[in-house]
Amino acid sequence: MIAIHVLNGPNLNLLGRREPGIYGSATLDDIEHALRAQAEGLGVALTFRQTNHEGELVGFVQEAGAAGAGILINAAAYTHTSIALRDAISGSAALAVEVHLSNVHARETFRHVSLIAPVCAGVICGFGPTSYRLGLDALAGLIDSRNAAASQN
Ligand code: DQA
Repeated sequence: MIAIHVLNGPNLNLLGRREPGIYGSATLDDIEHALRAQAEGLGVALTFRQTNHEGELVGFVQEAGAAGAGILINAAAYTHTSIALRDAISGSAALAVEVHLSNVHARETFRHVSLIAPVCAGVICGFGPTSYRLGLDALAGLIDSRNAAASQN
């Protein structure tokens, strides 16, 4: 069974109450429930985590890597600042997909730069909770293809 860890960074615990004009009304619990239902359909074992602390997020990435899991990550503000997180993702050797609820490219210029995008397989942003849904689908597909290619060798 494919394993995917969905990792959420700072302030995402406040979704639903936090700047609803930008992030919408869905809570992180709502997103988790929808992803769990989707994961069941895909045959994916899902781990879902959130932290407000950079070092803890790095630890979550390391744990996903050690478990051989894929990583679906909304690193929130650490996307734009954290070399430590980027190094953790590249060092984990895990397939990772970056997601954002908002269209970061339509916002402040400091959000246009992602330090983690170069070490992720792809980036999805701007679709609200659907960004997570699309990301989970894409990541599960990538892992399936990688596993199929590995089993032919
Ligand atoms: C975010 C975008 C980031 O720029 C911001 O710091 C967040 C949320 C998003 O999901 O749109 O906290 O990652």
